[in-house]
Amino acid sequence: MPDIPRFTEFSRIVIFTGAGMSAESGVPTYRGQGGVWKQYDYRRYACQQAFDSDPAAVMEFHDYRRKLVDQCPPNAGHQLVAELQARKAHTRIITQNIDGLHQAAGATDVVELHGSLWRLRCDGCGARREGRDIPIVPRHCACGRYWRPDIVWFGDMLDEANLESAISAMDGCDLLVSIGTSAVVYPAAQLPTLARDSGATLVEINPEETELSAMYHHCLRGPASQMLPKMLPKLL
Ligand code: OAD
Repeated sequence: MPDIPRFTEFSRIVIFTGAGMSAESGVPTYRGQGGVWKQYDYRRYACQQAFDSDPAAVMEFHDYRRKLVDQCPPNAGHQLVAELQARKAHTRIITQNIDGLHQAAGATDVVELHGSLWRLRCDGCGARREGRDIPIVPRHCACGRYWRPDIVWFGDMLDEANLESAISAMDGCDLLVSIGTSAVVYPAAQLPTLARDSGATLVEINPEETELSAMYHHCLRGPASQMLPKMLPKLL
């Protein structure tokens, strides 16, 4: 395998993250051992149909997720990504994560493709509300409808503006670093192919091989906090 690329060699960097990015913070991933969807059936807790038929159960599940994530601080990997962005202004961060840990580490303009655990929306009147209340109170919007977690659940469309923003970042980058995603959830998993098609160098950071590993120029096999520094030495 050729040398590991260094961040210093690139000027338009995209960091694309999934649940593995937050694993070292203590946030469970979705698949694999101890994964959220191994313990909880998404058809009961993470789709519009479940919310329509039993909103109380869905909200309790999201109370539980908030409680868990609230205790998890950003890890060394999040810190390195935020530091990289601070030093290289054109660095874009696109995440599938809903935990807000990139922002907690100081990253800015993070595109949250799958929404946020800390935001609610009302599909009745269009209101939105942010906060870290646990449990989520009040449960109902002033218009009378249940607040709904502003998360892209199974079967939901992605927010168009977020997707556009991610596509344009991928199209225009010269380095794409994909960190901690199993690359099985679309359309997010498709995004790195845009970077490849526009000639960017592609790096995958993941302890395990993924469905899309073959398209990456470099695969760094290990946890994010240990693999990211390998791309940094010349920056510091
Ligand atoms: P997954 O749980 O599918 O995959 C997590 C990946 O992280 C796996 O490939 C692990 O090998 C890897 N991993 C574990 N620990 C790691 C570490 N310390 N450093 C780097 N990588 C590590 O999570 P996602 O790919 O993010 O959607 O899942 C995509 C979407 O499916 C999520 O956004 C979520 C889920 O349904 C919503 O909830 C809306």
